[in-house]
Amino acid sequence: MQQGRRRHYFVTGASSGIGLSLARSLAGQGHDVTATGQRAPADLSPDFPDIAYHQLDLSGPAAPLIALAAPADRVVLAAGTGFYRPLEHEDPAALTQAMAVNLGSVIRLLHGLYPTLARQAGRVALLGSVADKGSAGMPVYSASKGALAGLARSLSAEWADRITVRYYRLWPTRTPMHARAGYDARKIDWLLMDPDRVARFVIDHLEGGGRASKTISPLTMVGRR
Ligand SMILES: NC(=O)c1ccc[n+]([C@@H]2O[C@H](COP(=O)([O-])OP(=O)(O)OC[C@H]3O[C@@H](n4cnc5c(N)ncnc54)[C@H](OP(=O)(O)O)[C@@H]3O)[C@@H](O)[C@H]2O)c1
Repeated sequence: MQQGRRRHYFVTGASSGIGLSLARSLAGQGHDVTATGQRAPADLSPDFPDIAYHQLDLSGPAAPLIALAAPADRVVLAAGTGFYRPLEHEDPAALTQAMAVNLGSVIRLLHGLYPTLARQAGRVALLGSVADKGSAGMPVYSASKGALAGLARSLSAEWADRITVRYYRLWPTRTPMHARAGYDARKIDWLLMDPDRVARFVIDHLEGGGRASKTISPLTMVGRR
């Protein structure tokens, strides 16, 4: 245990990108971690840490998710999905899925977890995006993150004396998400943040004091490890 108390973190999106970095960092710090992702356990990367992993589709029923997360006093919702394409080229199933994963699952999970989070003075981190104010080329993804920002702002005020809710507005980060979204991120490689550093920042900020909403940009990383 590097610092502070041993916590039980529940992490979604732990099979890839920033969620994987979070899971590795938290496990490395000696915390208990319950991780979920969409892929099968056999498809996890070799650097996935030795922690509990559950394959779960976040667009499915909420009950299994709530049951899995209930023992945790820290909830980090890193799962996200979406495509880089104009609305008229969207696929109805894909846009429903993006809203379900990026927003619906978060609302349903936090609704179900309220009693246990309130009892444990829990802390919640929601991973948002600088696209949350609207971004041409990704209207559905942007809308889901805009709504997530609103949810986070509401809950951080509503639950202020019981549960800490933080929203992280991320600049582009070097993860598989861009390729999955159909966007060639090589042209913006120079501005992409390192997912391990983003993960460390989120963990430190969530455990410390700070604003309910925090933009994480390359500038945020200056002077940090
Ligand atoms: N990368 C960026 O530039 C960037 C910028 C701003 C905000 N963000 C946000 O940061 C978070 C992490 O993104 P990332 O870049 O790390 O993305 P990523 O590498 O694509 O990882 C996304 C994660 O979400 C999981 N996931 C997707 N759909 C799911 C579903 N239906 N059910 C369960 N899990 C599902 C994936 O599981 P599998 O891999 O197993 O399918 C994966 O673990 C997201 O909320 C994203 O919106 C990212």
